[in-house]
Amino acid sequence: MAWAADGKLAAAVSEAGGLGIIGSGHFDGEQTRAQIQIAKSLTDKPFGVNVMLLNRHVEEVLDAIVEEGVAVVTTGAGNPAKHIERLHAAGIKVIPVVPSVGLAKIMERTGVDAVIAEGMESGGHIGKLTTMAIVPQVVDAVNIPVIAAGGIADGRGVAAAFMLGAIGVQMGTRFLTAQESHIHRNYKDAVLKAKDVDTLVTGAYAGHAARVLKNKMSKNFIKFEKAESTKEEPDMLALEQLGNGALRTAVQDGDAEHGSFMAGEVAGMIHDEPTAAEILERTWAQATELLG
Ligand SMILES: Cc1cc2nc3c(=O)[nH]c(=O)nc-3n(C[C@H](O)[C@H](O)[C@H](O)COP(=O)(O)O)c2cc1C
Repeated sequence: MAWAADGKLAAAVSEAGGLGIIGSGHFDGEQTRAQIQIAKSLTDKPFGVNVMLLNRHVEEVLDAIVEEGVAVVTTGAGNPAKHIERLHAAGIKVIPVVPSVGLAKIMERTGVDAVIAEGMESGGHIGKLTTMAIVPQVVDAVNIPVIAAGGIADGRGVAAAFMLGAIGVQMGTRFLTAQESHIHRNYKDAVLKAKDVDTLVTGAYAGHAARVLKNKMSKNFIKFEKAESTKEEPDMLALEQLGNGALRTAVQDGDAEHGSFMAGEVAGMIHDEPTAAEILERTWAQATELLG
């Protein structure tokens, strides 16, 4: 989770037996390296870095990842094909996030180690299919491991994902209110207060759909999108730029007027602020009980 998942949160997840992922978003090489070093100072366990392939600093971010010897790279917003050889040579597993069967197959052909099939219930940038629909279809289509993401916040979700054929899950929103999460108090409170129907999708018209909590920013965003989309010449540049920097504003300033409080539909079932270890322990205990 860009901005939200730093070295401290990732280390706490890894230390507790999960695979913590640092979100590098639009970071440059040094910002990425700094978070990797924080994680390394807090855990000896493997952790990963998510690389946003549209980031203009992507090459230096990858340099930092290779030099620091990170275990796993997950990728979003593009095709990691041209980076795979280099990452594999450094012993790094490559796991892209995919929103469709077609992309999962393309990724498999490029030699990735696994895919994360992500449904549109997720917080952050999303595709069009639901987790329940996409996971089994990707499982049927590829011969590499499939990790399920989107709408999973407890052991019931994990058990369901395993039933669909996934070998693991990626959880985002659940960790926003973890004690080790550094997001602004207003952002945490908004997640804790959210009901099932309190997310909406911004940016779909410009092709950058993102699930966020309802607030002043997202409601204005939707109004602007609706108004522009009915015009003969919509202001695509303004639409593209509307969400720029808005996640950072949410995480750092907790500003509901200008910040995109990205969160998934499961925000409605998050009512507490446990440690990352408590989240993992109870999630896994519930999943294993359900799965027998
Ligand atoms: C605040 C936030 C930021 C996110 N940023 C990224 C990102 O930078 N890259 C990415 O691949 N996924 C990102 N995601 C998606 C998560 O990695 C994860 O797949 C998703 O949250 C899973 O669905 P859930 O929110 O229902 O648990 C983000 C999600 C949230 C909530």
